[in-house]
Amino acid sequence: MVVTAGPTRERIDPVRYLSNDSSGKMGFEIARAAAERGDQVILIAGPVDQKTPPGVIRVDVESARDMLGAVKTAFLGSESRAKGSFGKKGGDALFMAAAVGDWRPKRRLSGKWRAKDGGDEVASLELVKNPDILATVGRRKGSRLVVGFALETGSGLKRAMAKLNRKSADFIVLNNETALGANRTTVAILGKDGSRVNITNKTKRDVARALVQLHYSNSAPAE
Ligand code: C5P
Repeated sequence: MVVTAGPTRERIDPVRYLSNDSSGKMGFEIARAAAERGDQVILIAGPVDQKTPPGVIRVDVESARDMLGAVKTAFLGSESRAKGSFGKKGGDALFMAAAVGDWRPKRRLSGKWRAKDGGDEVASLELVKNPDILATVGRRKGSRLVVGFALETGSGLKRAMAKLNRKSADFIVLNNETALGANRTTVAILGKDGSRVNITNKTKRDVARALVQLHYSNSAPAE
C-alpha cells in the first residue's frame, strides 16, 4: 500500500516557501492501520512532525513534484527495488491523504527575495500550476484501489463528487477544516458507484481503520 501524508512546500527562496496546513495525522494513521493489518506500506511524507509507525517504510519529500516522483516510483512501479519502491509491479492501493500545494512560484530564487528593498507596499509572486498527482497516477491505476481526499469548507459534496471522476479515484474522503490538526474527525466516504458512508466524530485512528478496510472489500465500510 502506498500512502501520502502532510503538506508540500514550494520554495520561493532558501528561507521562504508556500505550503498548506496539514499535520499529516490522517495519513500516518492510515499507514499505521495498514501495517497493523499486515500490509507492506510505503508512506510518502511531506514535512511533518510525526513518528513513523512501526513496520512502515517512510520516504520524506518536500515539493509536489518530489511527491509525484515518489508516488510514481512506489505505486506505478520502477526497475529499482530500493527503499521507497515495490519494484516493477508497484503498489496495490494508493491513499492520497497529502495536502498537495496546487501552485508553486514560477522561479525559485537562489538568494533571498528582496521585494522589500524597492519600498513598494505591494509585491507579487508569479505562480505556476503543480501537477495533480492523483489525476496523473489515477489514469494509470488499472483495477487498483485509489482513494483521494477532499478538504472542503462548507458542504463541498458536489465538488468532492466531481473529484471522483476528474481524478479517477474509487473513493473520495470528504472532510472539512475542523479536521486540521485535530485527533477526531468527521468524514463522508463517497464511492464512484454513488455510495456514501458518513463517519461522525471518530478518532483519526478509527477512521483510518475503516479506510484501510476499503482495500480488502473494495466497497464502502458500514457506518
Ligand atoms: O483538488 P483538491 O486539492 O481538493 O484534491 C484533493 C485530493 O487530490 C487529495 O487526495 C490530494 O492529495 C490530491 N492532490 C494531488 N495533487 C495535487 C492536488 C491535490 O494529488 N496537485
